[in-house]
Amino acid sequence: MKTRVQFECRDCHARAAQWAGRCDACGAWNTLIQVGSPAAATRQAARALSLSDVSCESVQRFPAGLAELDRVLGGGVVPGSVILLGGDPGIGKSTILIQTLAAMSAELSALYVTGEESAAQVALRGRRLGLSAPHMKLLAETDVEAIIALARREAPRVLVIDSIQTVYVPTLSQAPGSVAQVRESAAALVRFAKESNTALFLVGHVTKEGQLAGPRVLEHMVDAVLYFEGDSGSRYRLIRAIKNRFGAVNEIGVFVMTEGGLREVTNPSALFLRQDAETAPGSVILATQEGTRPLLVEVQALIDESAAANPRRVALGLDGQRLGMLLALLHRHGGHATGRHDVFVNVAGGVRVTETASDLAVLLACTSSLLNRPVGRDLVVFGEVGLAGEMRPVPRGQERLREAAKLGFKRAIVPIANAPKRGGDQGLTVFGARQLSEALEHFLKGS
Ligand code: TYD
Ligand code: MG
Repeated sequence: MKTRVQFECRDCHARAAQWAGRCDACGAWNTLIQVGSPAAATRQAARALSLSDVSCESVQRFPAGLAELDRVLGGGVVPGSVILLGGDPGIGKSTILIQTLAAMSAELSALYVTGEESAAQVALRGRRLGLSAPHMKLLAETDVEAIIALARREAPRVLVIDSIQTVYVPTLSQAPGSVAQVRESAAALVRFAKESNTALFLVGHVTKEGQLAGPRVLEHMVDAVLYFEGDSGSRYRLIRAIKNRFGAVNEIGVFVMTEGGLREVTNPSALFLRQDAETAPGSVILATQEGTRPLLVEVQALIDESAAANPRRVALGLDGQRLGMLLALLHRHGGHATGRHDVFVNVAGGVRVTETASDLAVLLACTSSLLNRPVGRDLVVFGEVGLAGEMRPVPRGQERLREAAKLGFKRAIVPIANAPKRGGDQGLTVFGARQLSEALEHFLKGS
C-alpha cells in the first residue's frame, strides 16, 4: 500500500496534500513540513535531555513465574527487553521457557514460536508438565518476516523464539544457523521488540565446535545474556547472567530437573557438597560467591607423575591460564614442584567458578593430592593469591564465613584481611593468613 505524502502546518496543524509556501488555513509563511517523512521523524526524535529531566520511575517488571529466574533477571522481565538464553542442547532451555511463558500468560498475552519442534510436540510437553495455559499462543514458523507479521497482529507482551538458529530472513541466501542469518534474524526481532515494547526471549544453542555461529555473535545486541550451566549427568541446572542491563551480572539461579520440569532450588549453598563424610586427598571445599549468593563447592585436584614430555594441565570449571600461574606459585612459595606431573583440577557438579577467590582452594587441593594427604571435611577456604605469594582479600568475606558456619564447618583458612577481628563465630575457627606459605603450613598441620 502506498501512503500519500502529507504536509502539516507547524502553527495551526492543518494538513495539506501538497507543499506550498503559505499555509492555506492560517496564512503563515514557510510553516508546512512533511509528516511521516524520515527527516521529520528524526528532527523530532533527536532531542537531547538532561539527566535530571529523564523520568526515573522504577522500571516495571513482570514476574517470570519462577523466583529463581526472576532473581537472575534482576527482579523480573522488563517490557521491551531482549534476553538471550544460551546453553547446550537438551539442558532445559525449551522446558524453562514453556514453564515461564505458561505462568506469565495468566496475566499477559504470550506467544511461543517454535522452529525446532512442532506445535503438537510443544503442546504435548506443556500438558505433560501439567501446565494449563489457555492464553499462551503457539506458532510453528521459521520465517522471521512471517513471525513478525503475526506478532504485530497478536501483539503479545512476551515473545519466545525457540531457537534463533532455526529462523531465517528470506532475503538472505545463507542457510538458517549461519552467522549472517542468526545476526539478521536477531536484528529484525530485536527491532520489533523495541518498537512494540514486547519482552523477547531468544533461545540459542551453544555447540562445542560451532560457538561462533551461535549465541556469541548476539551478545552485544541484547539486554541480558543468560547461560545454562551444569553437568548433563546431574539433575541440577544453573542459569547465570553474564550480561544484564537491568540487574547484576554473575547472578545465578539454581534449578533441579524433575519429571515435572524444572523446579527451583531456593537454598542451594550446600547443593554441590557431597553428603558422605569420607575424606579424600585432593578435595577442598571453597566458599565461593556467585552474584549475591554464597555457594559452597568442592574443588578437586589430581596430580600424578607424567609419562609425557609435556605434562598436562587441565582445568574444568576454572580458569586454565590461572592454573599455570598457581602451579608456579606453589613451586616458588610452597616448595612443591609439579613440572613432571600431570595436573587436573575440577569443580565438582559441573559448576563454573569465575572468581580469583578460588586460588587458595586450588593450591590446597593440589598440595593435598601431591602429598596424598586427605583434608578434613570440616575445613572451608577462600582467598586470592598474588604473584608475590601474598594472600589478597576477596569481596564479601563475612558472608562466606557466615554461610560456612551455618552449614556446620568448623575451620576456615582465609586471607588475613578477611578474617574477623575477634576470631570466628558460631563454632567456626578462622585462620587468617598473610602469605601463601603461612596458609600451607597451617593447612598441613591441621590435616
Ligand atoms: P529441553 O528443554 O528440550 O532442552 P533444550 O531446549 O535446551 O534443548 O530439555 C530436554 C531434556 O530435559 C530432555 O533430556 C528431557 C529432560 N526433561 C525432564 O527431565 N523432565 C521434564 O519434565 C522435561 C520437559 C524434560
Ligand atoms: Mg529446545
